[in-house]
Amino acid sequence: MDKAKIKEILKRLTLEEKASLCSGMDFWHTQKIEGKDDIPVIMLSDGPHGLRKMYESSTNPNESIKAVCFPAACALACSYDRELVQEMGKALGNECQSEGVAVLLGPGANIKRSPLCGRNFEYFSEDPYLASQMAAAHIKGVQSMGVGSSLKHFAANNQESRRLSVSAEIDERAFREIYLSAFEYAVKEAKPQTVMCSYNKIGGEYSSQNKRLLTDILRDEWGFEGLVMSDWGAVDDRVKGVKAGLDLEMPSSMGKNDKRIVEAVKNGELDEADLDKVVERVLMLAYTGDENRQYAAKWDKDKDRALARKIADGCIVLLKNDKRILPLDSKKKIAFIGEFADKPRFQGGGSSHINVEQVASALEYSKEFAEVSYAQGYITYEDKTDEKLLSEAVELAQESDVAVIFAGLPDAFESEGFDRSHMKMPQCQLELIEKIAEVNKNVVVVLHNGAPIEMPFADKVKGIVECYLAGEMVGAAQCDILFGKVNPSGKLAETFPKKLSDNPSYLNFPGEGDTVQYKEGIFVGYRYYEKKEMDVLFPFGHGLSYTDFEYTDISLSADEINEKDILTVTVTVKNTGKRDGKETVQLYVRDTHSSVVRPEKELKGFEKVTLKAGESKRVVFKLDKRAFAYYNTEINDWYVEYGEFEILIGSSSADIRQKASVYVETDKVIPMHFDLDSLGGEVMSFPEGERIFGKVLSLVNMGFDAAQADENAAKAARAMFNDMPLHTMVSFVPDESITREMIEDIVKELNAAAIEYAKK
Ligand code: BGC
Repeated sequence: MDKAKIKEILKRLTLEEKASLCSGMDFWHTQKIEGKDDIPVIMLSDGPHGLRKMYESSTNPNESIKAVCFPAACALACSYDRELVQEMGKALGNECQSEGVAVLLGPGANIKRSPLCGRNFEYFSEDPYLASQMAAAHIKGVQSMGVGSSLKHFAANNQESRRLSVSAEIDERAFREIYLSAFEYAVKEAKPQTVMCSYNKIGGEYSSQNKRLLTDILRDEWGFEGLVMSDWGAVDDRVKGVKAGLDLEMPSSMGKNDKRIVEAVKNGELDEADLDKVVERVLMLAYTGDENRQYAAKWDKDKDRALARKIADGCIVLLKNDKRILPLDSKKKIAFIGEFADKPRFQGGGSSHINVEQVASALEYSKEFAEVSYAQGYITYEDKTDEKLLSEAVELAQESDVAVIFAGLPDAFESEGFDRSHMKMPQCQLELIEKIAEVNKNVVVVLHNGAPIEMPFADKVKGIVECYLAGEMVGAAQCDILFGKVNPSGKLAETFPKKLSDNPSYLNFPGEGDTVQYKEGIFVGYRYYEKKEMDVLFPFGHGLSYTDFEYTDISLSADEINEKDILTVTVTVKNTGKRDGKETVQLYVRDTHSSVVRPEKELKGFEKVTLKAGESKRVVFKLDKRAFAYYNTEINDWYVEYGEFEILIGSSSADIRQKASVYVETDKVIPMHFDLDSLGGEVMSFPEGERIFGKVLSLVNMGFDAAQADENAAKAARAMFNDMPLHTMVSFVPDESITREMIEDIVKELNAAAIEYAKK
């Protein structure tokens, strides 16, 4: 629908009708207008890893149709596979089409700030680049079927505790580099039809009425042209929301906010032009949904279940495989132990909960591969050792060649709506693992959980397989991996710390009173553990395979670039083992010298490659300015500091195999908002001013040839530039005859000299 037609339709609406379009008709539909039946009503449904569509005939908004549950985001992100995620999105889009759903509520791109967040299973990663890439792929898949996505929860919904009221207090650099970045690329690249704002406040203002967030950043900076809807019940002041750019309140406000809007327009509190903007976007979404509707679409449950299995195959992470205990030898005596082998946990609780028809258990699917014996071992929903079940399991383990224990977190431990208070597994399961490891040397633990757990058993077992919440085909995929039908290729999308207190948010999660302070700043996940040189249980990006990969021949398209250039990085990866496999090649960037504190390295690229045994491939990455930049709060923009950057290519964040360096030149001088007039007497009279400024000048005067010849002088120039932003230098100017241009020239020369020096 073109914009001009929408404007025409808008003209036909009364103020009251326009106000009524600002909130839903009920829980899942946009508003209908009596007597104007040509204005379509569309249906929205959760999301994000299955279709949770309310039964048309039901009065309970949470009673949903039977659908297929795909792996949740926590698992999906471990695939590091854009194509696979897109394929899942396409299948979901098709399900939506055949069920008449116009917008699927998801994906969630919130950052996993703490492993305790109850909803981490619905989010992708602790790393914004990965989260954003996965979200973009999901959106592209769904929207390729003519169904809209709703990228959520924008922004900073990083905990469930007091999610309706808490204010996230985040410094601007962390907000931009970590929390907003996860959304930014997805918005720019995949153009979701809608964005869903979060419940919480940011810096004291509810997201649903946060103009800076919903308009200044989302629309003006990132160019978002779609509709912003509220999370369900996230609206505080609807009039403020309209002004801020919140288009659609969900669910229905039951007429209450329609009246508020009408009054506000009448009494001049709200400009009708602002209301029109919001209504135009609601109309655009409704008409687009209606136009894109494919009435003939049909979905095939078996096909989608097969896809759910294929996706789970690509997600499961082999964390540990001592003495190559896996894959299992089907001729051996194999015991499957633990209730999850029979009744696996495969999805999380809350609004993403899918009403599934059937769930594949490992016990059932093991029949395709081998004869296995089974002991229940524990009762999932009771954290109490059942002595009889325990001794049966120990007995079975004793007489088996290998014991595979299916363990993890029960539903009651994690869900939307609350956070965990610890990272422990149920004590009865830990006891079971411990006891079995005492009687059998060949133990493999298969995990079901939405977020990291502590693993006191990690050194006592030979194999650990992380399945997260892998969707309804979990058991089939587990057997594919355990018996080697599929070579594992998942990599962790988050760090597993050794213990909760190692986590950077530990002292400030979930905050106190009305606020939560993000005191760790940009140091989230591996950015923190690496900077602190801390040992972790399993590092970000870690995941083993049944084959081996060799990395050689890194090459860069240039060893010196300008920030406007694209750097091409190429590396050869070879499968040196005997099995076909897939490897996720990870690219990290490290700023070797920086005037601001930066992480040791940051993920800026990844490619998943399929390699037959013995095969090698060249893997290509393209890096632009953002790969090198940090967010500079003086210029309020992304800034590349001149100098050397290392390109690190690895199989995980802790397993770097290839390195190369590039020098990046910057175009910007900091700060750009230099203003000589603002120099007051106070700074001018600073006693050190003359001395320091003199030093800068003499360095420049001395000439950088000399500085280069004299290493100490060059170092001093470099240190001075690094330590001293332009405004500081200017603050020390003792004489107003020094012009802005002169200072900028000085800085440029210092810049150039420092680049020359760094190259040496
Ligand atoms: C959740 C959203 C969800 C919505 C509709 C909210 O409580 O936070 O993610 O899409 O409900 O079910």
